[in-house]
Amino acid sequence: MLNLAILISGRGSNMEYILKSIKRKRIPINPTVVISNKPNAKGLKIAEKLGINTVIIESKGFKGSRLDYDKKIIATLKQHGVTPKNGLVCLAGFMRIISPQFIRKYKNRIMNIHPALLPAFPGLDVQKQAVEYGVKFSGCTVHFVDEGVDTGPIIIQSVVRIKNRDTSETLAKRILKEEHKIYPEAVRLFAKKKIRISGRKTIIS
Ligand code: GRF
Repeated sequence: MLNLAILISGRGSNMEYILKSIKRKRIPINPTVVISNKPNAKGLKIAEKLGINTVIIESKGFKGSRLDYDKKIIATLKQHGVTPKNGLVCLAGFMRIISPQFIRKYKNRIMNIHPALLPAFPGLDVQKQAVEYGVKFSGCTVHFVDEGVDTGPIIIQSVVRIKNRDTSETLAKRILKEEHKIYPEAVRLFAKKKIRISGRKTIIS
């Protein structure tokens, strides 16, 4: 079975949904570690309650380059059996850009969830941007991580209609509900080897 690591920085609700789907035996993958760059991330407590190993690699005040930091992450992944051959890394609200070296090492084995319909609204604060722009639909995207910002091959998307009265908060809440469905599903597809990548497309069987 593949080994899974989840990287978080905060609330950890996507992490929680993934871990709970695994517990319910919906996803054949072995969750070996949750890593946070913030010592006070709420998600750490949730992971501990679910019996998953947690590791904090604090980024604030870290003396060294981005690559030095990522080397610490990679060493932790390896210690927990999450290798480029046998691992999957899920970024779930992990608020750091990761180095090209890390991405290349784990090519097509790092996933991310983004709260917009990519390629629209990459980056941060995107629910607010969607409301302010006046788009009628937004949603969320699970994608593989490549060296761009939110540009990797798309695995699953879910659409959310924007209502006249939506604020960024109300929209974010409805999008989050969809995130909680599609992220575990993307991990399941990966664990069952149902995702093939062809150029920048994924083909799901
Ligand atoms: C989610 O909206 C996700 O799309 C974005 O960061 C947020 C993380 O939320 N990348 P949580 O920590 O999973 O609750």
